[in-house]
Amino acid sequence: MIGDILCTIPFFILFVTIIIECWKVYLNFTKLKAFHHIEGWPIIGNGLHLIGKNNEQIFETFVTETEEISYTWVGPIRLFHVARPEDVQAILTSEKCLKKAIPYGFLYNRTGLLTAEPSTWKVHRRALNPTLGPKMVNSFVPIFNEKFQKMVNLMERQIGNNVDMHQIIFRASVDTITSASFGVNWTMQNRRGDELHRWLIDLNDNIQKRIQRVWLWNPIYYLTQDYKIEMSNFQAVYRFTRTALENKRMNLAEKLEHGEDELAITKENNNQNYLQKCLQLELEQKFTDQNICDEMETILIASVDTSATVFYGITLMLAIHQEYQERVVDEMREIFIDVNEPVTNDHLSRMTFLDLVIKETMRYFPIGPFLGRECTADFEINGGVIPKGSQIFINVLRMHRNPKFFGENALEFYPERFLPENCADWHPYLFIPFSAGARNCIGVRYAWTSMKIALSHILRRFKLTTHLKLHEVIIKPELLLKIGNKNAIRIERRKW
Ligand code: HEM
Repeated sequence: MIGDILCTIPFFILFVTIIIECWKVYLNFTKLKAFHHIEGWPIIGNGLHLIGKNNEQIFETFVTETEEISYTWVGPIRLFHVARPEDVQAILTSEKCLKKAIPYGFLYNRTGLLTAEPSTWKVHRRALNPTLGPKMVNSFVPIFNEKFQKMVNLMERQIGNNVDMHQIIFRASVDTITSASFGVNWTMQNRRGDELHRWLIDLNDNIQKRIQRVWLWNPIYYLTQDYKIEMSNFQAVYRFTRTALENKRMNLAEKLEHGEDELAITKENNNQNYLQKCLQLELEQKFTDQNICDEMETILIASVDTSATVFYGITLMLAIHQEYQERVVDEMREIFIDVNEPVTNDHLSRMTFLDLVIKETMRYFPIGPFLGRECTADFEINGGVIPKGSQIFINVLRMHRNPKFFGENALEFYPERFLPENCADWHPYLFIPFSAGARNCIGVRYAWTSMKIALSHILRRFKLTTHLKLHEVIIKPELLLKIGNKNAIRIERRKW
């Protein structure tokens, strides 16, 4: 009996393979014919080409002479590559492409904004939008000043040395986000910041490893040692957010005992922060405890490493390009009298050259180098049809560095390209460091405000230098884009 079953297995595999291959041929001749097809092997498609390659090399597989939409197969999975602003706009604004691609599921976060299914995401996003809107972010300015003042005070000890700018801003960003969005006043800059930094960096590395091993995009992964390591990191991050949540719950209960209903008051004043809003929704039985944990983890993962990497990129570009650093500092000198003066919203609006520098850095180092979506229905585009279930990868890195769109100096650092007269004709979906369309970054305003305040404190106190030249900067386009050169910035006291 068992022998009979074993004998039929090869025939069954052959049968399934033939069906899949026939189906691919049918699709190639009908729906997919309008797109550039990157040929691969039968059954595995381009699977073998992807083994051992990093994301950039994987996506090189797709690079063609034109920026037309191209696709390939990895087994039964169809991967589309998009790198032209018109196509990016069509995808990012379509209801059919609101679902995130398979690798987002490797975060095991089912209901947080970054990864949630479209139906859940719509409800959460609508509810949470105001918590990071202009009014709330303006109210966070004193928090940003306090935390970044503390950061520069701690940096004083490192004057004359090379510093780990990513880690410095990472710890300060944990302090700002937990204080602004969770209402929990922790000081990660002093003690526990290093642990959280390690957990999140390790998580990112693990997920990246799995993305590169497409044969582990299935439950076999759960049997690997990497999965066990990943779970212990996830649990550590979970303990961190869970502690913050329980502290907040206790704090609310204590206030209630003394007659102060914080949730009711903030709801009335329309100024609930992220966690207060989540707890309010739980009270109204619209959110579960799991939803709250997912959203807290999401905001932590989505805000801290992104801000730290972009910030490291900006400071590195200013250290390499001393002439731009001087122009930014001249702008600061016109705005501030004192080196320690807290930044106000009025000051922020006057830091116009700094805006150009930040934009050019985010063009050069887009933190989300590849945005992934899954089509939830057949999607017509450019005379063809991207079939339901296809995985679409938008190559932001390639688009942001493409001389066809940005001119011959696309690989140079040139903030002036963002002057209104120089970018007036750009396609609105050409420069998308925060993504675009409905599922864009909810924290855009928070990110801009916090980065400008942090930079204004650092640049008033310190002069930044580096031994690196622009062409020596190593970028690693992973899940998030990383800068490979560690501790490349040296700080000296600035004469103000
Ligand atoms: C310079 C810093 C930042 C950059 C460059 C950035 C960039 C991005 C990008 C590209 C996405 C889209 C991801 C995708 O579709 O795959 C995104 C989504 C998101 N970001 Fe940011 N981000 C930054 C800071 C922040 C901050 C400070 C917060 C929170 C305070 C935040 C919260 C989120 C959330 C929750 C999402 C998911 C939004 C949704 O799908 O509704 N980000 N971000």
